[in-house]
Amino acid sequence: MKVLLAGGAGYIGTHTCVELIKEGHEVVIADNFSNSCPEAVKRVEEITGKHIPLYEADVCDKDAVDRIFSENNLDAVIHFAGLKAVGESVEKPVEYYRNNIDSTLTLLEAMKKYNVNRFIFSSSATVYGTPISVPLVETMPTGSPTNPYGWTKLMMEQILTDTANANPEMSIVLLRYFNPIGAHESGRIGEDPNGIPNNLMPYITQVAAGRLKQLGVFGDDYPTHDGTGVRDYIHVVDLAKGHVKAIEYSSDHKGTEIFNLGTGTGYSVLDIVKAFIKVNGVDIPYVIKPRRVGDIAECFADATKAKEILGWVAEKNLEDMCYDSWNWQSNNINGYK
Ligand code: NAD
Ligand code: WQD
Repeated sequence: MKVLLAGGAGYIGTHTCVELIKEGHEVVIADNFSNSCPEAVKRVEEITGKHIPLYEADVCDKDAVDRIFSENNLDAVIHFAGLKAVGESVEKPVEYYRNNIDSTLTLLEAMKKYNVNRFIFSSSATVYGTPISVPLVETMPTGSPTNPYGWTKLMMEQILTDTANANPEMSIVLLRYFNPIGAHESGRIGEDPNGIPNNLMPYITQVAAGRLKQLGVFGDDYPTHDGTGVRDYIHVVDLAKGHVKAIEYSSDHKGTEIFNLGTGTGYSVLDIVKAFIKVNGVDIPYVIKPRRVGDIAECFADATKAKEILGWVAEKNLEDMCYDSWNWQSNNINGYK
């Protein structure tokens, strides 16, 4: 199958590219490098031994997207291209709505024109808002996101569902990711955020690398086993494999289907810090800080549906995630730079 990876040069896109090629699929990447660089794609080529057609393109640009579809006989699209920093989305809501929603609409229009009917979308557990209970099941109501980033995901889920309702040939798979961490076992590709990381694991690896002084732990008074926030961390390679399953599933599927991609296990911030120290033998100085605005106490998936329908389960454990995160960062202290 030939798959367009919009935003395929990014963290999850590069790992998915490796797994798709491993399973015999062809890929084409379109990325404007707003949060990535061509070097990441070169490294995927090095890992897979395959040439990857790469378009430096903004997928909100109709002409650029049209050219990609006209030059490639595509079977499916995976849409990773999005701005994803929660805090920044509060400062720059218009940029987030424009980029995330426009990119989706532009891709859908090209798919209609070129009769491409399979779309896999990077959604997020953030659409559940504050959980009414955990684990989170796909049938639970979506909540009210606390930031524009979350709203873009919820709005795009609606847009995509309406699109599938209007076109009986269409397959839409909404993948709600929990908290992806880790890196490819080669240590050649991984997460490389711009500026000071917002997310926990890149912050920890940059403290370990000496780029940051200490970790701030946001709150130790949550109703969790040690008072710190609990999340469902999932290895990015497991997540990538979930996309391969979703692509294969979409060949016989019509309509819209939602899957949680998580492990089903929640770990606290301090569980992660302790596991990282133990697995990698490096120190992570930390200090307790006030709660971060908008954070919830606990969030983890019920991933039964992905297991039963996609035949997918996360296989890697917390030690693998901590080991591979540090393997990537320690071999690339300044990321791809
Ligand atoms: P990332 O920033 O590493 O990758 C996104 C890629 O899209 C980048 O390479 C960026 O340059 C590109 N991009 C952005 N806008 C574009 C545009 N208009 N045209 C072309 N390229 C564009 O992020 P990621 O962690 O790989 O996330 C991928 C997707 O998964 C995003 O949609 C994100 O919202 C979603 N997601 C991520 C997480 C997470 O924690 N990483 C969790 C849930 C959902
Ligand atoms: C995890 C835990 C923090 C940083 C966000 C988005 C979500 C999805 C994934 C996508 C929390 C604590 C963090 C730090 C800390 N996004 N923490 N110190 O908030 O669960 O989810 O990323 O694109 O939509 O909301 O992930 O990694 O930021 O935080 O104590 O320096 O680590 O409070 O408990 P989160 P995170």
